[in-house]
Amino acid sequence: SECVSMSPMMEADPALPESERVCVFGTGDLGHSLGLRLLQAGYGVVFGSRQPHSSSRLPHGAQVLGHAAAAQSAHLIFIAVQREHYDFLVPLANQLKGKVLVDLSNNLRKNQYPEANAEYLQSLVPGAEVVKGFNTLSAWSLQNGPSDANRQVYICGESAEAKQAVIAVATKLGFSALDRGSISVARELEDFPLQLFPQWRLPLRIAIGLSAAFFFYLLIRDIIYAYVTQGKDISFRIMVSLANKVCPIVSLIMLSLCYLPGVLASFLQLYRGTKYRRFPDWLDRWMLCRKQLGLLALGFAFLHVLYTLIIPIRYFVRFKVTERTVSVIRENRTTEFDTTTAWRSDSYLSLGILGFGLYVLLGITSLPSVSNALSWREFSFVQSKLGHLTLLLCTAHTYLYGWNRFLSSSTYKWYTPPGYMLCLVLPSVVLLLKLLLITPCVDRTITRIRQGWERGADQ
Ligand code: HEM
Repeated sequence: SECVSMSPMMEADPALPESERVCVFGTGDLGHSLGLRLLQAGYGVVFGSRQPHSSSRLPHGAQVLGHAAAAQSAHLIFIAVQREHYDFLVPLANQLKGKVLVDLSNNLRKNQYPEANAEYLQSLVPGAEVVKGFNTLSAWSLQNGPSDANRQVYICGESAEAKQAVIAVATKLGFSALDRGSISVARELEDFPLQLFPQWRLPLRIAIGLSAAFFFYLLIRDIIYAYVTQGKDISFRIMVSLANKVCPIVSLIMLSLCYLPGVLASFLQLYRGTKYRRFPDWLDRWMLCRKQLGLLALGFAFLHVLYTLIIPIRYFVRFKVTERTVSVIRENRTTEFDTTTAWRSDSYLSLGILGFGLYVLLGITSLPSVSNALSWREFSFVQSKLGHLTLLLCTAHTYLYGWNRFLSSSTYKWYTPPGYMLCLVLPSVVLLLKLLLITPCVDRTITRIRQGWERGADQ
């Protein structure tokens, strides 16, 4: 085992210079993993402990001293202790004077305390230089060493020198440290690990909200309507038929939500006659989550395709088909082949397939490893030109699916339009606006604005 019982020495090992020696306060999981990594990187590690004689579970090669002696032995001290226990540092004010204290702490929820942990630490030990950092790493990732996904660590603090010292250690451990500024940023860094998938939050809420709304809308229109007006129980349709409406509807709406902000931004630039004014915050935020919106939309489209593929093996469908066949034979009827229906059905299916193909291409090119390999021109070609084409194909798929039912009054049960009609509103608006933007005269103005021209500036 890497853990051995240490017989504590009362003096730090003098063989190493102070810059090669670091001190860790806190012998919990985080302190333990950090100490191990520091040792592996070649540092001399001194643990500060309340009871140096009974701290047994520490990495091999580390020293354990009492807090005061440990603090004196190194310039850099990692505080791997929870904030509630920080007050043990107050009596050590003398030994900590001029030292760099690295605050690694995190909280359990946002706004748990009035000030950031690092600011609190600084107020307890005014003579030391507090640097906030490494708090986005877990004991697990410290122990396993940096990987591509968690190589980045953030630090902040008042003293540039103290931050340099911390950056040097981070670099030697294989992390790349990014200086985020003064100690006032500490709060933001402390909130960072508390956020779950921050850029996914809004798109996920939109997806859940739309799914719930359309689910209940279609439940009433399709299933409750049949029960109330004809006394028929067709609730089994919730599982496949209803799901196969909710998924494509949500997908199409979210795909248009990906392209709406870009269109709105173009109109805003046209209206303002310049590209040199900031977009409103909501538009900025909306544009920043387009990738997540698009990937979620792709997920819903994928589900629609799977639900469509299983239609022929559904019991309900096989039963209906057999029943019809048998009744045609029994009654000795002949059925006419309707070429129009064949055209319509093949066309909407084909447009759906083409739309889905481009949809997948959009999803693939938005993955970082692929988009990094594309030039900006290639990326914007795929995401904008092919993106709008995808929207056009999927919208046409849905219009053709609706065909002439838009006109028949029996479609409007309880005066409500079917789901696919509702979901066509937004993509139709986006496509119309886009069509306006690519008409030659508007396009010319937009291009000039994008190149830096300003209306009223050339006179
Ligand atoms: C409806 C097939 C891709 C949007 C349908 C229906 C079929 C179908 C068979 C009728 C479902 C029913 O009778 O209940 C396909 C195939 C696709 C495809 C084979 C590709 C392989 C897409 C894509 C979208 C889309 C990429 C875009 C989001 C819709 C919409 C409806 C629909 C909105 C109407 C749903 C409703 O009944 O309310 N599709 N589709 N489809 N599809 Fe697709």
